[in-house]
Amino acid sequence: MDLTSKIILVTGGGSGIGFELARQLVALGNTVVICGRDAGRLAEAARLTGAQPITGDVTVADDQERILSAIREQHGRLDLLINNAGIFLAYDFRSDPGALQKIEAEIAINATAPLTLTRRALPLLEKSAQPGVLFIGSGIAFVASPGTPIYSGTKALIHHCAQTLRHQLQPHGITVFEAMPPVVDTDMASVLKSDNFKKMKPSDLVRDILEGMRRNQTEMLLGQSRQIKLMSRIAPAFLFRQFAKTEFH
Ligand SMILES: NC(=O)c1ccc[n+]([C@@H]2O[C@H](COP(=O)([O-])OP(=O)(O)OC[C@H]3O[C@@H](n4cnc5c(N)ncnc54)[C@H](OP(=O)(O)O)[C@@H]3O)[C@@H](O)[C@H]2O)c1
Repeated sequence: MDLTSKIILVTGGGSGIGFELARQLVALGNTVVICGRDAGRLAEAARLTGAQPITGDVTVADDQERILSAIREQHGRLDLLINNAGIFLAYDFRSDPGALQKIEAEIAINATAPLTLTRRALPLLEKSAQPGVLFIGSGIAFVASPGTPIYSGTKALIHHCAQTLRHQLQPHGITVFEAMPPVVDTDMASVLKSDNFKKMKPSDLVRDILEGMRRNQTEMLLGQSRQIKLMSRIAPAFLFRQFAKTEFH
């Protein structure tokens, strides 16, 4: 996929991997719209990257419509939707007093929102000459991680849906990509206490994702995610025990 002169929406573009995606994609000559809930953080990210900010919560249907309407009015089409926004919650399912809200929030942001936003964006994507959707999944899609009781399940769901949507949308000219990062050095990963994870730099991760997309590699296993997938096939119980040892702040 050519990654120049495109109209691109990056959800969660105010920080971390989304910020870096926006930065590198603007530098390649694309028009990038970023969205997120924190207006101040988003404005600062827009100033630093050259992206266009639209404040909005991807779990809210009206916000999804408003973001897409703004793109329709300003640009008339969408070439690439990057579903990146996400949260990662470590807690005890039984004893955490906020568990009910956390379950709902994590599924809404990580699983439901990328799918409903993609569905709502189809008419705009179909106006593009070379449309694409990129899901930012995770290598943890291949192993259940007990310390974050819901997170790995949301990424497993995205991994399955990326495959089913790729199959359904390809005949309509829409390419569905999925990038599965390892642990990446962002705010999200700062809750990890264990230092047995090598944290990838966001700039290296995004460089590899964009290179993969240019080569039309639709399923991208980045860094240690490749080993996680392999281990999930040859030694799943060992892999699960390793992840069960993960400690969090
Ligand atoms: N970091 C890792 O180790 C790692 C590894 C594998 C996969 N990933 C995935 O990579 C993606 C980005 O993670 P990251 O590490 O860059 O995390 P991050 O630094 O915490 O950034 C997440 C971004 O998502 C936005 N966001 C969260 N909820 C939102 C909502 N409801 N609506 C709109 N925006 C929302 C946040 O902005 P607001 O709070 O302002 O809304 C924030 O800018 C996530 O999907 C994550 O699961 C991360």
